[in-house]
Amino acid sequence: MKTLFPLKAFNNIETPFYFYDTELLRETLSVAQNEAAKYDGFHVHYAVKANFNPGLLQIVQRSGMGADCVSGGEVQAALAAGIPASKIVFAGVGKTDKEIAASLDAGIFCFNIESVPEAAAIEALAAERSMIASVAIRVNPNVAAHTHSNITTGLAENKFGINYEQLDEVIDFIEAQNHLSLIGLHFHIGSQILAMDDFIALCGRVNELQAMLNEKRGLILPHINVGGGLGIRYDAPDEYSIPDFARYFATYSKHLKLFPGQQLHFELGRSLVAQCGSLITRVIYVKHGTCKRFVIVDAGMNDLVRPALYEAYHRIDNLTAEDRPDEIYDVVGPICESSDVFCKDRKLPQTERGDILAIRSAGAYGEAMAFGYNCRTLPKGYLSDDL
Ligand code: LLP
Repeated sequence: MKTLFPLKAFNNIETPFYFYDTELLRETLSVAQNEAAKYDGFHVHYAVKANFNPGLLQIVQRSGMGADCVSGGEVQAALAAGIPASKIVFAGVGKTDKEIAASLDAGIFCFNIESVPEAAAIEALAAERSMIASVAIRVNPNVAAHTHSNITTGLAENKFGINYEQLDEVIDFIEAQNHLSLIGLHFHIGSQILAMDDFIALCGRVNELQAMLNEKRGLILPHINVGGGLGIRYDAPDEYSIPDFARYFATYSKHLKLFPGQQLHFELGRSLVAQCGSLITRVIYVKHGTCKRFVIVDAGMNDLVRPALYEAYHRIDNLTAEDRPDEIYDVVGPICESSDVFCKDRKLPQTERGDILAIRSAGAYGEAMAFGYNCRTLPKGYLSDDL
């Protein structure tokens, strides 16, 4: 599905801003939901961290997905969009008392806990409220995902989850409490994963662990959550606008051994929202250096930090002129940092002051990670429905 950009409408909006193709978003959500529905007990939660734009969240809510949240603010954003508390899971290594209390009061489905002190804090707050809090243990599966080192999470050296050696102690602790109910196991190995082998490796670890817990403790928990991580094709957003959800869910169905009645949860972020979003920016100047040509745009690393932070590739389209002869450029922002670069030595149609560029595949971890460095205002997000 090719994103069509309403260039006329763009002329009336101050750049830079995010643009979301809602037709593509709806189609992506629907394909993901339909593919998951082919298997009994598969549930998709949207990882709110990828993008919490209120309009986009409402479209996600209408798809019937639950939400995976990593802060009290995200829990509130999910609730405000109308996602029922009964479909919200709350993960993260550093949940504060205030965030836990608000989530208990809202009646969320489950806390994914990552340490004994956190379990103790949830126990105390649930006791004050005479409530039973449902918890899942986030297990660190020590699986290396083949992705950027800043976005792997499932290695023993990462801060996330509970290592195998400590698992018994944590289960004993939870079982000894009066206000905690252990309902599941949670895993997440990283993000932007395109090799199904990484997910197969995770399935192997989950199978081993489930067999071990069953044998040793007679434990079968009703919920297994395998996190998110499915990657997208940054190089070809129009050709691969919808990720291969069929293959992703089939991989889990084939390789994960669930006990009868066990429910399987997914927390997908990037794969659901990345391709529908672009950062729209205007060329301020074209500058000819001694050995380089720079396209200086009005968006900076504060609007889209992924290239500066992860050396991430984003395709750039010149919406004003696609048919001019090609030149080689570095596309850079106005921020006072040498890392404020969107791409280096990229072939683009000859670019002029005033041209409008679309930095593609920016719907996930784009607007959500924007910040205000250099006193810049945060970019707004517009849905195609509203233009
Ligand atoms: N579940 C957990 C526990 C997570 O930590 C994450 C992402 C997800 C689900 C969703 O993963 P996804 O399906 O989006 O891959 N800012 C980075 C990505 C950070 C991912 C953090 N955790 C980027 O721009 O590439």
